[in-house]
Amino acid sequence: MQPNEATRALLSRQIIDACLEMGRLGINQGTAGNISSRFQDGMLITPTSTPYGELTEDDIVFVDSRGVPETGCLPSTEWRFHLAIYQHHHDRHAVVHNHAPYATSLAIMNRAIPAVHYMIAAAGGTDIPCAPYATYGTEALSLLVVTALAERKACLLQHHGMVASEVSIAKALWLANEVELLARWYCQLLACGYQPETTPRLPAEEIAVVKAKFNSYGLRS
Ligand code: 13P
Repeated sequence: MQPNEATRALLSRQIIDACLEMGRLGINQGTAGNISSRFQDGMLITPTSTPYGELTEDDIVFVDSRGVPETGCLPSTEWRFHLAIYQHHHDRHAVVHNHAPYATSLAIMNRAIPAVHYMIAAAGGTDIPCAPYATYGTEALSLLVVTALAERKACLLQHHGMVASEVSIAKALWLANEVELLARWYCQLLACGYQPETTPRLPAEEIAVVKAKFNSYGLRS
């Protein structure tokens, strides 16, 4: 096996394991969602509409930097925003998309998650924004995702779900799960009667302090 083939097989296995873990964590269901990893001049990504339990390493599709998939392979319909994230953020090496229940509930209400907890800093700033709705799999959605992620590592997708991007598959999955937990806390505050405008939140200066501390805390890669 050539070194590139070995790396591809390893990343493909990590993508499949992360897909299965999303199901175990309760942050995705059925054939919803997709995961990719930067690879060579493009990326490796889950195939479209395939149950995760049936995936083998050979099913993970390579898409090059022009958006062209390997012959005979059908990548996730969301390959556009995955590729666009890698092209706009050279520090991102993995992207996770899912339809997590609490994050998607907020996305349906078009609500960004505010700084209700210091873990918001893990996504890069004082909130997790919500990208406006566009049909799944379109260039329009890709542009909206790139805009929402300009200063963030994660965002919600209105009437759709969430996206998390990070330096590795393990970290992107970790961030996606943290976003879902933040969404759950915020949903519970709203259910207790807090209004979005009056929900207690941390000031921007404190989020900046926590963000700096995160440089030496948490998953290393
Ligand atoms: P794919 O099966 O094409 O990855 O689509 C799932 C999805 O969640 C679309 O947003």
